[in-house]
Amino acid sequence: MDGRLQGQRLTLAYEERTVAADLDVTIADGSFTVIVGPNACGKSTLLKALARVLRPVTGTVLLDGAGITTYHSKEVARRLGMLPQQPVVPNSIVVEDLVARGRYAHQRMLRQWSAADEEAVTEAMRLTEVSELADRFAEELSGGQRQRVWLAMVLAQQTGILLLDEPTTFLDLAHQFDVLDICADLHDQGRTIVAVLHDLNHACRYATDLIVMKAGAVVAQGPPGDVMTPALVEDVFGVPCRVIPDPETGTPMIVPGDRARRRGLSSPLSGSASA
Ligand SMILES: Nc1ncnc2c1ncn2[C@@H]1O[C@H](COP(=O)(O)OP(=O)(O)OP(=O)(O)O)[C@@H](O)[C@H]1O
Ligand SMILES: [Mg+2]
Repeated sequence: MDGRLQGQRLTLAYEERTVAADLDVTIADGSFTVIVGPNACGKSTLLKALARVLRPVTGTVLLDGAGITTYHSKEVARRLGMLPQQPVVPNSIVVEDLVARGRYAHQRMLRQWSAADEEAVTEAMRLTEVSELADRFAEELSGGQRQRVWLAMVLAQQTGILLLDEPTTFLDLAHQFDVLDICADLHDQGRTIVAVLHDLNHACRYATDLIVMKAGAVVAQGPPGDVMTPALVEDVFGVPCRVIPDPETGTPMIVPGDRARRRGLSSPLSGSASA
């Protein structure tokens, strides 16, 4: 598998706490990769390592064939954009100025703000529907508004690779789909998208490639139709379920067992429950 972005034999840790050991992962070029897995299994940690926010204890992250640490940080930021899970909102900054920070990597010493910068910011704010929030203080926004502003900042960076850690958290149903549709459009235009999502059905609808993690390891990778089985969901999440074709898209749809079945008791439907 070709990959502009790869992790090789990564050991990832926070001081004494080792989160992952000997982890190999390749992000397929041009894929819409969705990472799923239980809380604390290491999804954000992996994303941080791939974006050079966290330095691996051992192992290498390769970006376009070279060790990511060999690049100047602005060069990394021109190739790869990252939306962290919980970005810290700076005080007293208005939305438009926050989104404009996404252009940092494109600025040069002698050529400051350009028409291209302006256009990238305007377009990113239009796509994420935050144009009308331009003059509001970022710290005063609702969780969902703020999430879309952060996304706008990453989009304004105009990178070929986007790493998004739970981009749909805080969003209502319509805005969840808006964000995923923006990602799908960018993917159609040739960008490589990597997103962490908790909603398995959204993951199956949008991913070309799923990466399933458990306890710091990748336990499955591939197209949702190949990967998402009842056995995998039960093994990784401990939730008995059926997997049926999504009536709208044909992609796998996870239907969790009812309360009795999840507690290991027989339920009225249990006889027909293995899909
Ligand atoms: N800054 C940190 N310092 C110490 N330990 C951390 C730090 N960040 C995460 N961890 C630990 O590393 C492990 C993996 O965390 P990580 O944030 O990667 O999980 P995750 O899969 O993204 O979970 P979630 O679905 O809850 O976001 C957890 O045990 C967590 O407590
Ligand atoms: Mg996380």
